[in-house]
Amino acid sequence: MKSLLTLSALGVVTALHGYSDKNSTYFNPIIPGFHPDPSCIFVPEWEDTFFCAVSSFIAFPGMPVFASKDLQNWRLISHVHNRPEQALTFGNISRNSAGWYAPTLRFHEGTFYVINVDVDAQAPSSGIFTTTNPYQDSAWSDLMPIPVGGYDPDLFFDPDGTVYIQYAATISNDPFTTEIDQVTVDLSTGNTSEPHFLSNGTGVQPPEGPHMYYKDGYYWLLLAEGGTALDHQVTMSRSKSPTGPWELDPGNPVLTAINSSSLFQTVGHADLFHDAAGNWWACALSTRSGPEYVHWPMNREAVLTPVSWPGDDWPVFDPVDGLMPGPLPRVNPFVAGRGQFVGSNDYYKFAPRTSLPEHFTFWRFPKRENYVVSPPGHPYRLQLTPSNANLTGFEDFSPLDGQTFVGRRQEHTLFSYRVAMEFSPSNAGEEAGVTVFLRQERNAELGLISMDDKYALRFRATGPDAPETVVREVPQWWAHRGIQFEIKAFNFTHYSLSAGPKGKRHLETVALVDNSLFSTSFTGVFVGVYATTNGNGEGGTKAYFSDWRYKGIAQAIGIDEYHYEGYGHH
Ligand SMILES: *[C@@H]1O[C@H](CO)[C@@H](O)[C@H](O)[C@H]1NC(C)=O
Ligand SMILES: *[C@@H]1O[C@H](CO)[C@@H](O)[C@H](O)[C@H]1NC(C)=O
Ligand SMILES: *[C@@H]1O[C@H](CO)[C@@H](O)[C@H](O)[C@H]1NC(C)=O
Ligand SMILES: *[C@@H]1O[C@H](CO)[C@@H](O)[C@H](O)[C@H]1NC(C)=O
Ligand SMILES: *[C@@H]1O[C@H](CO)[C@@H](O)[C@H](O)[C@H]1NC(C)=O
Ligand SMILES: *[C@@H]1O[C@H](CO)[C@@H](O)[C@H](O)[C@H]1NC(C)=O
Ligand SMILES: *[C@@H]1O[C@H](CO)[C@@H](O)[C@H](O)[C@H]1NC(C)=O
Repeated sequence: MKSLLTLSALGVVTALHGYSDKNSTYFNPIIPGFHPDPSCIFVPEWEDTFFCAVSSFIAFPGMPVFASKDLQNWRLISHVHNRPEQALTFGNISRNSAGWYAPTLRFHEGTFYVINVDVDAQAPSSGIFTTTNPYQDSAWSDLMPIPVGGYDPDLFFDPDGTVYIQYAATISNDPFTTEIDQVTVDLSTGNTSEPHFLSNGTGVQPPEGPHMYYKDGYYWLLLAEGGTALDHQVTMSRSKSPTGPWELDPGNPVLTAINSSSLFQTVGHADLFHDAAGNWWACALSTRSGPEYVHWPMNREAVLTPVSWPGDDWPVFDPVDGLMPGPLPRVNPFVAGRGQFVGSNDYYKFAPRTSLPEHFTFWRFPKRENYVVSPPGHPYRLQLTPSNANLTGFEDFSPLDGQTFVGRRQEHTLFSYRVAMEFSPSNAGEEAGVTVFLRQERNAELGLISMDDKYALRFRATGPDAPETVVREVPQWWAHRGIQFEIKAFNFTHYSLSAGPKGKRHLETVALVDNSLFSTSFTGVFVGVYATTNGNGEGGTKAYFSDWRYKGIAQAIGIDEYHYEGYGHH
């Protein structure tokens, strides 16, 4: 934030919509942490601003939207799904890798559109959200239902006025066999035509993540193929008609990390846009795992790469790396909104009359009453009321039961997260503390728990080959004075979870956790706080958290290569 302020001061003189004729450099990921499947646009009508929306699965609020004027300073400006009533059936989803997959963000005649499918939700579960002000949560509409027979829907406004939706349609019982289908849609009613087959791309299964463009007399169809892991790739084809047939780009795959030794793997699921100077760019997802693909707790992050795309020639994409040259717009950190700039640190005191920051995230819909900032008698505290379910849940866990958890994404390879807690549980099983949370089946906690009329610090982790549980009895006065917790990613492969009485400089490390426990599936790690009765009913003793600090320490930008300074721009 310090460098941002300095730049703001300078910006007064230099930010004149200027585009430099020389290349400058930037760092990938542009939006680090769990921010997969970016869909980005450039909107001259909104003061030459770039906007991106990303996937969020069952994290809520869902589908974060970021804005930037320079492709380097990105700010969280809203969430498309920010009020349960916009799409109520989201709340019933049980599978942790379901929910809001890849959104497509488009701007057409003054309106922003996000089309998406809420995977596993009961109908109505697909359609569009619209807004005329992407800087405000409340301005995003409710879901306008449009039936889509698949996932990863794309919205394309043909210059002739027809609106097309392209999507990945599952065509067998194997969820990983798909084809790209297409319908036309009447956006005033949500009615669609009968679907028809559009493309199989280059034939590498499963084709998904379609985006269509019109440029220089051709319709262009960009696809993700090969699945979202190491075989992920971007392919291009074109046609004189939006319904095909498609001519394949002889350069396919046009963008991939297959066979590369880069830290940046799984590159795929791209979207294309151009800036005010006419330079083309692709956003895509990538996993900072290296080819070993073992340690990648932040999972799929949003990256940016320059594309040269003159006339009706095939576009040429630069390979994705950590430090990239490109014809960037001039640095301009003036982005409106109340959300955080990407890469910033947290320091929240939960002061009276404040609310939780925009980037604080729940798992499914939160029970709002379980999260209170500065409740009466407890100023400068975040009060959590425990849920019956713990972070793992149990056999008869129902999604609507809720889990008392709030966190923020891990957005740096190395970071430290500290928070203090006052909690004096009186019933057996009551527990509250801090967590490294990927999903219900993969998490690690360090909490204070009441056991046999004694207090203990307990470390517990869930997932295959999870480390052993650790229980350490602690004196009662710890609970009254308050406990200081710390979670650190202290190297590329491990977290430490530590605690001690508040005010003590040295915290004791209770457990080390290998982050490969969290390197799986579609979502990325959150760090945060939780409270539970471990199956002994709702309510019970409340926990009070204070002095929430998250500090980014370094970003991996290559194998064994780190970037330490104020992240984002330079
Ligand atoms: C759960 O799903 C039912 C049926 O679609 C719906 O009526 C209800 O509103 C949903 N509840 C929540 C909280 O999502
Ligand atoms: C939309 O579809 C509904 C149901 O099929 C139909 O009743 C209605 O007439 C259609 N509306 C338009 C404008 O085509
Ligand atoms: C597309 O691929 C699917 C799955 O391999 C196959 O069943 C289908 O016949 C293909 N369609 C065309 C038109 O090639
Ligand atoms: C990756 O390497 C294999 C073996 O050399 C080769 O067959 C394949 O075409 C390569 N893939 C790409 C996308 O470069
Ligand atoms: C700037 O970067 C782009 C994208 O990598 C490249 O095509 C172009 O040649 C570079 N221009 C200069 C002047 O280096
Ligand atoms: C990180 O630290 C752990 C525990 O000290 C160690 O086992 C591991 O090898 C380290 N990883 C790296 C990449 O240095
Ligand atoms: C979660 O709660 C259930 C029910 O009390 C319990 O069986 C389970 O061991 C707990 N798991 C974890 C990881 O806390």
